[in-house]
Amino acid sequence: MKNFVFDRPIGKLIHGGDYNPEQWLDRPDILKADIEYMKKARINEATIGVFSWSVYEPREGEFHFEWLIDVMDRLYENGIYSIVATPSGARPAWMDLKYPEVMRTNGMGIRNRHGLRHNHCLSSEIYRNKVRLIDRKLAECAGSHPGLLMWHISNEYGGECYCDNCKNRFREYLKKRFGNDIEKLNHEWWTTFWSARYESFDEIEPPYENGQTAIMGLNLEWKRFTSWNFADFAKTEADTLRQYSSRDDIPVTTNLMKQFYDIDYRVLTAQMDTISWDSYPEFHNDRETYADTMLESAFDNALLRGLKRGRPFMLMESTPGVVNWMDYNKLRRPGVHMQFSLQAIASGSDTVQYFQFRKSRGAAEQFHGGVIGHDGTDGTRIFREVAATGEMLEELADVEGTVPVSKAAVLFDWDNWWAIDGSGGFAKTTRRYPQTCSEYWKKLLQLGVEADIISANDPFDGYSLIIAPMLFLLRDECARRIRDFVSRGGIILGTYMMGYINENCLCHLGGFPGAGLSEVFGIVSEEIDTLYPTDTNTVNITDERFRDSNWKVRDYAEVLKVGDADVIGVYTDDYYKGGAALTCKKYGSGAAYYQAARSAPDEMEGFLKTLLKDADIECADIPKGIEYHRRSDGDKVFEFYLNTSEGSITVGDTTLAPKESLVVARGDGAGETKKKYCFKYKS
Ligand code: GLA
Ligand code: ZN
Repeated sequence: MKNFVFDRPIGKLIHGGDYNPEQWLDRPDILKADIEYMKKARINEATIGVFSWSVYEPREGEFHFEWLIDVMDRLYENGIYSIVATPSGARPAWMDLKYPEVMRTNGMGIRNRHGLRHNHCLSSEIYRNKVRLIDRKLAECAGSHPGLLMWHISNEYGGECYCDNCKNRFREYLKKRFGNDIEKLNHEWWTTFWSARYESFDEIEPPYENGQTAIMGLNLEWKRFTSWNFADFAKTEADTLRQYSSRDDIPVTTNLMKQFYDIDYRVLTAQMDTISWDSYPEFHNDRETYADTMLESAFDNALLRGLKRGRPFMLMESTPGVVNWMDYNKLRRPGVHMQFSLQAIASGSDTVQYFQFRKSRGAAEQFHGGVIGHDGTDGTRIFREVAATGEMLEELADVEGTVPVSKAAVLFDWDNWWAIDGSGGFAKTTRRYPQTCSEYWKKLLQLGVEADIISANDPFDGYSLIIAPMLFLLRDECARRIRDFVSRGGIILGTYMMGYINENCLCHLGGFPGAGLSEVFGIVSEEIDTLYPTDTNTVNITDERFRDSNWKVRDYAEVLKVGDADVIGVYTDDYYKGGAALTCKKYGSGAAYYQAARSAPDEMEGFLKTLLKDADIECADIPKGIEYHRRSDGDKVFEFYLNTSEGSITVGDTTLAPKESLVVARGDGAGETKKKYCFKYKS
């Protein structure tokens, strides 16, 4: 069975986004015009109710959903689906005044006041009950509506709370995690250091900013706890919706953000049917080219898509114009929105959605872009590009349900990220874990290979090449699976900082990479050098099979003791000149490569190509300046060529102008071209 974004095919790609009719209930003329504009822009979905709690329940226990059903009815009559959100992202004032414990407490232990959004405690039973009740009412009211397409839970979960309820819940969580054995926790957290030993779980406090922050295991477990608490909270929301909707075909999602530090999205999304996320690249900034911004956005799509392998995702929010929260809120230039939208589709999204359909008239986001602005007309550049995007999506309806498929994977894990950042070593500003992962991924994409991004805890089957950048936190279980993967013929590239600590932040003993991996790689990393930005060194590639000559070394360089690995690159400078910097050990029927120093994957092209070839992964031959993606369901194939450069580029017999894109649709097997589409926004 194919994995559809809505659990079933709906025969189209979704074009829509956040819609706030509750801000305009006194303007029926505007609500009427909205529907006409939606149809004109080929918008077939509206996400409603994201922050509507104070309209749904203006006074405690008094519920008003009539307006919602009315809006859903009118949308549905006009062929527009609704995605209905639970309102738990922001609370009405009455609740905070009556039940202050629902508000969040910061890292200094001080409780916030009423206001803003995302300002709630996840451990407050009062808050959980209030959310359960409103979600239940919502499900009972809207959960049978024929226009309902999906439930959208809350909004961009994030942050953390340090209140007493959270502290107690953390202690309960730790008891489970350590089998109620305080000595086990003391050992794993190495609490004899600075006299941090605990006598009982009741002595443990969260890592308050002005409190105990010297125990790496505690800091890491607090992050894990917060993720777990979010997931648990999301589960109560999802379960309530599932229980009280009379329709049972409504999938559940929550909107995520890019490279978001607070929450382990793999833990959170275990409760969700579909991945959806909000993408706001900083186009036209003063640091990088348009192509670079696009490439980073492609990485983010892959990162989020990787949370549910083999299933398309949703671009839940984007702006067709500006946002209002960046340092500089630059307008998207003509053609950018359309190509950005196509990129999301090319990367595996089955939707293009906006924040927001109509700009709000007042309050914090009044100057955030929308499909309809304060002029209230469809006669704008933004509207025209949105409408052209709608047409494009209609033409690409067949893409629905296909996905990018890859034999290459890059590992990325949240707890590894937290552990690297929280480690008491290395350099403060150059750890750059997500950036490092993205650099490998982007290089592979430029070589014509769109890798999956998976967790070190995910199954490795189906992959022949795995790149494991900075796998600092290494579980025994993961080490075992890496060993199996390689011995059964897989190729792995491990790097500096691999296998230093276990899941509780205790260093592996007996040489890094630990947990038995130094045997798989045939090396031991004896020391790691942290370089200043002005320090230089080079890796000289001594094996010509790899076709690279020299890689510049930046930031980190390990000094290796080589066991039974082959040395294929050596340092050219410093006291470790001539020492191994790149090694390979054949292990079982596979190979384990170890890269001891940081170099830009951009300089590692020959090496990476050789690895791909050895892993039997075909590189599509992509002209420079084209961003290439491919989606397939094993039957249909779609190839996407996006010209993100500043000049014209020819692909086959098609010449693409800047910001022009080509989509080639093929059937399976025969490989014949069925159809070609070119998309460029003409202003
Ligand atoms: C986020 C939120 C939206 C809105 C947009 C503005 O993605 O989910 O409610 O605030 O940002 O860009
Ligand atoms: Zn709390």
